[in-house]
Amino acid sequence: MNPWKNERFASESLEAIDRQFLPGTEKEVEFIIKELGISIGSSVLDIGCGAGRHSIELAKSGIAVTGVDISPKMLAEARHRAEENNIKLTLLEGDILRLSEFLNGRVEAFDGAICICESGLGTLGWQKDLSVLKAIHGYLAFGAKLILTTYNGLKKYRGEMIKAKSFDYLQGSVHWRLPDDWYEEHYNGERFKDIQRVYIPSEITMLCEIAGFGDIEICGCRPGEFNRQPLEPDDIEMMVLCRKKRAGK
Ligand SMILES: C[S@@+](CC[C@H](N)C(=O)[O-])C[C@H]1O[C@@H](n2cnc3c(N)ncnc32)[C@H](O)[C@@H]1O
Repeated sequence: MNPWKNERFASESLEAIDRQFLPGTEKEVEFIIKELGISIGSSVLDIGCGAGRHSIELAKSGIAVTGVDISPKMLAEARHRAEENNIKLTLLEGDILRLSEFLNGRVEAFDGAICICESGLGTLGWQKDLSVLKAIHGYLAFGAKLILTTYNGLKKYRGEMIKAKSFDYLQGSVHWRLPDDWYEEHYNGERFKDIQRVYIPSEITMLCEIAGFGDIEICGCRPGEFNRQPLEPDDIEMMVLCRKKRAGK
């Protein structure tokens, strides 16, 4: 089961997100608006929108945001925070693997898409990540950009090769699980674990290219510091910027 569907896991994670990442959100959104080249009236798809950290800031700038997320708890919080800010968001619950099911019928393409902070994409395994990238590509207008932040595989390969039990360096996968007694103590015995595919820059570049994107750039990013800094091998996350190219270009 996806851990984000567990209410307690989502609540505890949200506390950490609010503490660590919320303060830098305004600056991140300034960067996002500039990079996506959007303005009042533009539309953005926020993939794994969580509690609406970026969605709400974007909407304050007059952007029409559609946020999708698998976690009922995170979406409830996003709705609550949107109301508090007097902001209108379109929030849809579901797994990004099935984007077409809940975006079905949408005629107008989005002017940009974001997937920030390990929000589904980059955690599904490469075949599924690729199918989601293709789906996002399909929902974007020509010339529109996707901004994705995901784990930087360079760090994992450098730092964790010897801990092969949690990082499978042949597959590039992190095997994520909580200590056994935690499930009993904190989550009523409900067990969830995850396998997250971690990419090195050239791999994620290939996936984006196969999905149809062009102008693919990789740079570094830290919470509150989105400014196209060069990616350092020991950065935890990397940022991928790519564009849906016009046909034939
Ligand atoms: C670390 S939080 C980040 C949320 C938000 N993007 C932010 O930066 O504050 C990751 C989010 O991705 C969502 N998520 C994870 N896997 C998903 C999936 N397969 N489909 C849709 N949402 C997913 C989780 O529910 C969670 O809200």
